Amino acid sequence: MAKQTAVRQLWYKPVMTDEMVDAVASVLRSGKYIRSYPFEPSEGKHFEDEFRAYLGCKFAANLQSGTAAMHLALIAIGIGPGDEVITVPNTFSSVADVIILCGAKPVFVDVEPDTYNMNVSLVEAAITPRTKAIMPVHMNGHAVDMDPLMEIARRRGLKVMEDVCHAAGAKYKGKFLGTIGDAGAFSFVQNKCISAGGEGGLVATDSEAIWTTCAAMANHGRWKTWFEGHKQYEVYLAQHIDRPAYNYRQNEVQSAIARIQLRYLDEWNAIRRRNTALYHKLLRQFDNDIALPATRPWAEHSMLRYVIKTPRRDALKHFLEENGVHVMVEYGTPIHLDRGYQQYCGAPEGTFPVTEKLARTIMTLPAYQTMTADEVVHVVDIMKEFYKK
Ligand SMILES: Cc1ncc(COP(=O)(O)O)c(C=O)c1O
Repeated sequence: MAKQTAVRQLWYKPVMTDEMVDAVASVLRSGKYIRSYPFEPSEGKHFEDEFRAYLGCKFAANLQSGTAAMHLALIAIGIGPGDEVITVPNTFSSVADVIILCGAKPVFVDVEPDTYNMNVSLVEAAITPRTKAIMPVHMNGHAVDMDPLMEIARRRGLKVMEDVCHAAGAKYKGKFLGTIGDAGAFSFVQNKCISAGGEGGLVATDSEAIWTTCAAMANHGRWKTWFEGHKQYEVYLAQHIDRPAYNYRQNEVQSAIARIQLRYLDEWNAIRRRNTALYHKLLRQFDNDIALPATRPWAEHSMLRYVIKTPRRDALKHFLEENGVHVMVEYGTPIHLDRGYQQYCGAPEGTFPVTEKLARTIMTLPAYQTMTADEVVHVVDIMKEFYKK
């Protein structure tokens, strides 16, 4: 039955409405593609102001990607050579990349088997005299248990930089993720809660110093004095930042798309929560070996990813794909076992057993915001066929 109705069911489909296309066309026609003076009205400035107002934080710097946001936020909170940053190994490699790019070392702690998030009870034992910061990753859109984590950080004098790349609009005890630590780094790449077309990112913070450093370092180190000097005297005054900087700017086309998508953020998160609640209900109604993801009572999940676990993961994945359903394994190699990271933060197999078991058993089912309830039922019907065999 499932095969008859099968349409190719991608694991993710980005949203692009006519309004977004018109906004892109309008930027392209304007001839103004980058934000020149960062304090003047522009798509980028409007997006920052709107996102900041949405989160209720004081400052936002819109950037090229989530990776750029994490990198600059780490620099801005003072991470440098010789420092250690505590994070998790069951995540996207760029989490380790940005720590390493600062000259620091990622130090991993294992995760909880049901939320896939940092096991906060393991953090204190990982702190050394070199530890400077903790980088919780709100995996799949579920909040890390931030109260005990912040308590440890404050007591031990550590900074906290939240990876909110999966969790725009998600909350912990009613508070938006990304506004609890010293800074939060968001991603707007095409498969995230909202996108800025292809790529995008943003740092949110209440610290003016962190914001200024991120925004200036994204723009070759230039800040107010540089631009104002040029405007008033036609001379370029000194850069704001006394070190080499980057071009991590978000362009105006990206910002124009992101501004419109932001208006849909709550609605899309709600649709995904509804779709995943349906998966949850249907997957409990027949005999299978699937473990469903947990949601703690204090978490308002973005449900960016609906990640199940099964010991027969590879066979089920193969069956779903044969039947036109595209599923994902994120992330199939823990960072500490990945070849490219051995000299920086490698560790032998068995060091992080929960993470390693997750890597062998997890699978992301499609649950994006344009997916209908019928499509969820269709995916589950195919899974039922697999478990009948
Ligand atoms: C948990 C996590 N952190 C950071 C990033 C990096 O974001 P970006 O792809 O926008 O650089 C990603 C991935 O896309 C991610 O999944």
